[in-house]
Amino acid sequence: MKGIKRILAAALCVTMGITTLLGMSGCSSVTGGKRIIRISHAQSETHPEHLGLLKFKEYVEENLGDKYEVQIFPNEILGSAQRAIELTQTGAIDFVVAGTANLETFADVYEIFSMPYLFTSEEAYHEVMNDTEYMNQIYESTDEAGFRVLTWYNAGTRNFYAKTPIHTPEDLKGLKIRVQQSPASVQMMEAFGAAASPMSFGEVYTAIQQGVIDGAENNELALTNNKHGEVAKYFSYNKHQMVPDMLIGNLKFLNSLSDEEREVFEEAARLSTEVELEEWDVQVEEAKKIAEEDMGVEFIDVDIQAFKDQVAGVQEDMLADNEHIGDIYDHIQEINAKYTDEEAE
Ligand code: GCU
Repeated sequence: MKGIKRILAAALCVTMGITTLLGMSGCSSVTGGKRIIRISHAQSETHPEHLGLLKFKEYVEENLGDKYEVQIFPNEILGSAQRAIELTQTGAIDFVVAGTANLETFADVYEIFSMPYLFTSEEAYHEVMNDTEYMNQIYESTDEAGFRVLTWYNAGTRNFYAKTPIHTPEDLKGLKIRVQQSPASVQMMEAFGAAASPMSFGEVYTAIQQGVIDGAENNELALTNNKHGEVAKYFSYNKHQMVPDMLIGNLKFLNSLSDEEREVFEEAARLSTEVELEEWDVQVEEAKKIAEEDMGVEFIDVDIQAFKDQVAGVQEDMLADNEHIGDIYDHIQEINAKYTDEEAE
């Protein structure tokens, strides 16, 4: 029986096509007596998230190094976010970093973060995301799917960038713009009057280069870290979304940990966020400089209100269509008001 199980497990790994990449014989996660913890993410090895994950690795190995070794797989080498989430879901790997847009099809409460102009300030965004006690209620929403979010990473503010300059919402009409593979982002893009083209992050560079799409929407690091600034020279600060990335763990694995071990992993996650957030601010400033001076990208300041007005109906439509986002929407409005009031004082 054991023999059959082993063969089946090995066959599963081969079909998943990750055996060679993971350097595994038969998908075993234990080498040299240590349990290997595998983390997949979509960014390069200089990206704030990678640096945050290095902290995660350091802390886990410092405290539980006799038992666990953490391996980080960057650049979507284990597959796109969607694929890597599936691998985490089945336990083929243990953790993945992915944007909430990729979680919408598992738990529709995550649609909230794709709602255009949801947060009215970065301060409000950070306060909501840093409130772990509140966010844990949201993080539990994917338990049935077999995974749980441990912490969040800042992925900045999303803006349009394209081969042609976008100054007003009218400039978006007729353009084909890549969005994340998220129903809510498609809805938003349609409201902007552009054609939404959902695809994985790794495909965007070539799609712009070959003219399959006219542009995309993302933070400044996409221009430099992912080199999109080589193929799209106009970046407009219309600031339509703040979509966080999440560190997601296989639930069975998390539940298999003793209380002490679980605490170590949770602290490691918290520390990784601390590093990521600090790095984020530094790297965004650097990215703007590199994009402008070395890549020839033009940053365009736009009338944000005009873009807001264009998608004003989307918030209401989303709230009417999805009963799971009402509570968090109200919660975010309260936090938004705190900062708007402060500004007004
Ligand atoms: C950002 C974000 C990623 C996301 C990507 C995308 O880079 O950090 O998690 O996948 O945008 O647009 O797909």
